Amino acid sequence: MYDGTKIIPGILLFMIVLSFPVWYDRLNGSAVIPDPEVKTESKYCVMPKEYMRSNHMVLLDEWRDSVIRDGDRSKVFAGIIKYDKSLSNSCMKCHNNKKNFCDRCHERLSVNPTCWDCHNLPEEAAHAN
Ligand code: HEC
Ligand code: HEC
Ligand code: HEC
Repeated sequence: MYDGTKIIPGILLFMIVLSFPVWYDRLNGSAVIPDPEVKTESKYCVMPKEYMRSNHMVLLDEWRDSVIRDGDRSKVFAGIIKYDKSLSNSCMKCHNNKKNFCDRCHERLSVNPTCWDCHNLPEEAAHAN
């Protein structure tokens, strides 16, 4: 006769150990989202953080269309301070360490935006490490 009270917990433990890489990675995945490195007078982003987290690429498209297609260079607010609708002059001025912010997320998710082929990084973002 086998002792179910030992075998079943044994099997469960084995399964937890086996699946460790999967859930460890998942827990880690949320922890790896970098803290924004912000070097401006504003402690706010141009939109709430939760929105930015999942929609910054949509916002960037909207900004580009509005500036290029509609010639609309009106400003946006971060907190009470006004910023241009600009990748280099706004996003990268605040998030001035591309490597530790944008890249850290994108690399992990295998996203590789090619924006910087054309758009300059502000000095400090280009040389920060
Ligand atoms: C082939 C070159 C090229 C690439 C690649 C490119 N852009 Fe642009 N982008 C431009 C040019 C040229 C303008 C017009 C600049 C102006 O009139 O101020 C512009 C303007 C913009 C603007 C509005 C003005 C500003 O200063 O930012 C945004 C926002 C923008 N692009 C976002 C993006 C994003 C996001 C990507 C990557 C997904 C990207 N662009 C990739 C060439 C490019
Ligand atoms: C005025 C400075 C400023 C500008 C301009 C700015 N950000 Fe932010 N951003 C912040 C701050 C501060 C936070 C953190 C907000 C918080 O914790 O509530 C943030 C948060 C974010 C987040 C979420 C990060 C996370 O931890 O989930 C993303 C993504 C982001 N910004 C991308 C962008 C992009 C893309 C642009 C340009 C379209 C931009 N930001 C423009 C200051 C800025
Ligand atoms: C919290 C993690 C995170 C941060 C921080 C972050 N991104 Fe992203 N980014 C993503 C995700 C997720 C996607 C979308 C991937 C997809 O749609 O498959 C993305 C996509 C993009 C795209 C569209 C790429 C494409 O090929 O369509 C652009 C442009 C972009 N991010 C710009 C930025 C810029 C600029 C910064 C830094 C200021 C930044 N991101 C910071 C997670 C992040």
